[in-house]
Amino acid sequence: MAFETLIVEQVGRVTRITLNRPQALNALNSQVLTELIAALAAFDADDGQGCAVLTGSEKAFAAGADIKEMQAQGFADMYATNFFSGWETVTRTRKPIIAAVAGYALGGGCEVAMMCDFILAADTAKFGQPEIKLGVTPGMGGSQRLTHAVGKAKAMEMVLTGRMIGAEEAERAGLVARIVPAADLLDEAMKTAETIAAMAPLAVVANKEMVNAAFETSLAQGVQFERRLFNGLFGTADQKEGMTAFVEKRPGNWTGR
Ligand code: CAA
Repeated sequence: MAFETLIVEQVGRVTRITLNRPQALNALNSQVLTELIAALAAFDADDGQGCAVLTGSEKAFAAGADIKEMQAQGFADMYATNFFSGWETVTRTRKPIIAAVAGYALGGGCEVAMMCDFILAADTAKFGQPEIKLGVTPGMGGSQRLTHAVGKAKAMEMVLTGRMIGAEEAERAGLVARIVPAADLLDEAMKTAETIAAMAPLAVVANKEMVNAAFETSLAQGVQFERRLFNGLFGTADQKEGMTAFVEKRPGNWTGR
């Protein structure tokens, strides 16, 4: 598929997806959604790819859902199409996606970054849910994922006032994994993605599923889920290879089986 709003590149086992609507600060419209779903499906289906990086420009990861696309819509239009529901597809990607965020990650931009598995932030990153200033609310899961990430007090303040937070505040609050200088963001994100993509593929998916289960289950159910998946990996060739490689003091040679 040829993309107009994304640049998709494969670098070794890493797929880099760059949001590319500079004229609209990467505002997320229906075309971006359609293309991103296609790019992520291709990434997930490709055994040669182990991790993705989703990024934007220096100025904006994404300044939100496309306000101009939504402006004239009525309730019936939004309800009939279950508007925004397609974005949940991002969260169903089985392999990890790192959000590499520089500049604005606002509204839907912040929400898509939070749908990724973790966020690496440039020191220029600014996160916010300013939908209240438009007379609406977050609509891609921001009220829930932001609250899970930073807790009620900060999430509530952010959604009620629309205040943006900078990279340092976001890191302190637990929204981002790490801050790097803006000039190093892409290199650092690609390096981190290469590290993940070099791990045993089934273990990568299992680790991702487990951490995500922590948001959907009770502690006891989550621990049980972890143990069963951990036990199950002992049925894979890569568990034998990984532990043999450790004993033989050499790197693992994974088959993904
Ligand atoms: N949708 C559509 N177009 C957008 C946009 C958006 N979310 N954000 C920016 N743009 C467009 C601007 O309209 C402008 O286009 P024109 O040149 O044609 O006028 C262009 O991008 C550049 O933007 P600015 O001139 O505004 O740039 P700035 O540097 O002065 O300001 C900004 C940057 C503070 C990010 C400002 O653009 C802004 O406030 N953007 C909107 C942020 C926002 O409200 N996001 C939430 C959207 S709603 C949402 O996301 C719902 C949800 O839950 C999913």
